[in-house]
Amino acid sequence: MAVNVENKHAVGGLKINLGCGGMRIPGTIGVDQVNVGVTEVIADLEAPALPFRAGTVAAIHVYHVLEHVDFVRLMDEFHRVLKPGGLLHIRVPHASSFSFWDDPTHIRPFTSVTFDYWIPGYHQNYGFTSHFRILSKRINFLGNADVNSYKILPWLTNSIRWLLDTAANAHIRLCERLWARYVGGFGELRFLLEKV
Ligand SMILES: C[S@@+](CC[C@H](N)C(=O)[O-])C[C@H]1O[C@@H](n2cnc3c(N)ncnc32)[C@H](O)[C@@H]1O
Repeated sequence: MAVNVENKHAVGGLKINLGCGGMRIPGTIGVDQVNVGVTEVIADLEAPALPFRAGTVAAIHVYHVLEHVDFVRLMDEFHRVLKPGGLLHIRVPHASSFSFWDDPTHIRPFTSVTFDYWIPGYHQNYGFTSHFRILSKRINFLGNADVNSYKILPWLTNSIRWLLDTAANAHIRLCERLWARYVGGFGELRFLLEKV
């Protein structure tokens, strides 16, 4: 049954934060499998359907969650609940990062190309019919799990981080293929997709 929270953030449309944990984004409805104080909707993202009606959601934020679930079918659910032109904000650990492999509950690695498979015509043999346009991609040297680990020399960390992020985002695929591993891997990928 669809959860009746659609009117709560009606201005600009409903915005939902899936797998919000304890860090729900302000202005969004927090959805998680557990309530750690900020969750408004308890839901299992691996259940057959998200508890929102078709075409009602303006934006989905799903940060550091998709690596925990079998997300391919979930892309269909994102597409179903989003309005036409609705936005899907994704953050995931990059496959080159140690923090991806550290967590025993991570089951899905990601590269900068992973979501290209939902671009219309990208890989027709797979039969994906829930199409998205990729509005932006970004790779970050430090990810969620790393940011609090490097506090010794913040100015040095920030300078190195800026240099690596600038070089990597000039050509993300080159970074992944040639040099990401030599700097210890990149922590995070960020994507902005639009429902087609
Ligand atoms: C690493 S935390 C990320 C929390 C927050 N989004 C952030 O960026 O800090 C992963 C979250 O995904 C939630 N999660 C994992 N599997 C889930 C599932 N099948 N259904 C709903 N939530 C799930 C967990 O409960 C947890 O709160």
